[in-house]
Amino acid sequence: MQKLAINGGPRAIDGTLPSFRNASGRTLGGEEVAELIEVMESGSLSFLVGPKTGEFERAFAERYGVKTAVAVANGTAALHTAVLYLNPEPGDEIILSPVTDMGTAIPIMAQLAIPVFADIDPITQNIDAASIEKNITPRTKAIIVTHVYGHPADMDAIMAIAARHDLFVIEDCAQAHLAYYKGRLCGTIGNVGCFSFQQSKHMTTGDGGMVITNEEARFGRVLRQCSDKAWPRERGGRDHLFLAPNYHMTELQAAVGLAQLRKLDQFVAARIAAADRLTDLLAGTDVQPILPMPGTVGVYFFYCFRLDPAKLSQPIIEVVKALVAEGIDGFIGYPGQIPLYKYPVIRDHKTFGTSGWPFTLEGVRRDDFNSELCPVAEAACRETVCMWWTDRFEEKHLQQMAEAILKVLDAYRLAEHFDGEVTTRA
Ligand SMILES: Cc1ncc(COP(=O)(O)O)c(C=O)c1O
Repeated sequence: MQKLAINGGPRAIDGTLPSFRNASGRTLGGEEVAELIEVMESGSLSFLVGPKTGEFERAFAERYGVKTAVAVANGTAALHTAVLYLNPEPGDEIILSPVTDMGTAIPIMAQLAIPVFADIDPITQNIDAASIEKNITPRTKAIIVTHVYGHPADMDAIMAIAARHDLFVIEDCAQAHLAYYKGRLCGTIGNVGCFSFQQSKHMTTGDGGMVITNEEARFGRVLRQCSDKAWPRERGGRDHLFLAPNYHMTELQAAVGLAQLRKLDQFVAARIAAADRLTDLLAGTDVQPILPMPGTVGVYFFYCFRLDPAKLSQPIIEVVKALVAEGIDGFIGYPGQIPLYKYPVIRDHKTFGTSGWPFTLEGVRRDDFNSELCPVAEAACRETVCMWWTDRFEEKHLQQMAEAILKVLDAYRLAEHFDGEVTTRA
């Protein structure tokens, strides 16, 4: 058996893998630069005076086949814009998964609504439709569906529940650019789709976001106004109709976004091809990749897999440390080793001053965020291995990744020795 890198042996991955953190894993170049120069030379850096944000919105709407796209500052802002549009009453409830970014929950709390966590499906790790249904109360107003890791959630079941209970559906597609559910683009199935263009996403503008929809106005609000200080600019003059932030995207972000969007299909196809190849290389081993559901196209924001802890001589955390030492760009558990509700902002109600709002408002639902509220999610956070993914992996990188994973598994696999004792071969 080869000596592990964590024990001083040679690394399975020579050099570093392409990474979303820099040019090794991001395709940013001449097209983006040309767009940026145009904006800089124009002197118009705001959508109020320049054309790029509008152009980016129209191009995005066209690629998604929707009526409206509103460009915003980041993915959290996109989700906040959607929740502002819904205009919940303080104490109303919005259901979400605990396996997502805090950016999914922040907008709910910012509007003084209560985040209600439904558990996840153990296979896909997406929000579980049965758990959503169990958590519905007369105060439930919406479901935010994160297509986690880029793999579509079970939208037929979720949309059926939403129709039965008259709930608004926000799709969080931050990790799911150009993912398809039964032939339909994720983000176009619910009422509103929200995207992030943060550094690690399939296409990036550094930070950035987009809200897409086929409806313009509801709940007494116009979607576009929800990220624009509730200013009905088309009327001329100044007016502010309700409480809303300024989440404008800049012309610089939009310029980069336009160039990135032209290459998005290519980025996504390359991510999928690399993931499929790694899955092939790991076939027949103890590695259980998290794959898209049949009938869907998942787009691999991360490449995630599970291992059976009962077959390992070490806790998964030690396995991940050994993988990282071999050169794998990965970590354990998403959003971390605990689900979203166990971070201080939610668990300890660290919100507005010392008030604890919305969790301490009178008559609101009170979940115990210190408990194992969502047991499937708790286990997933403890046991899932996540690897950062990019569109720039080549065959040699994938071969080396598979080698690294199998080397570490081989070292940490429980083996039965001739004396019948269960021990490690390491
Ligand atoms: C699933 C999910 N939702 C929301 C967000 C928030 O996006 P941003 O970081 O652009 O605010 C992210 C990105 O990190 C995400 O991955």
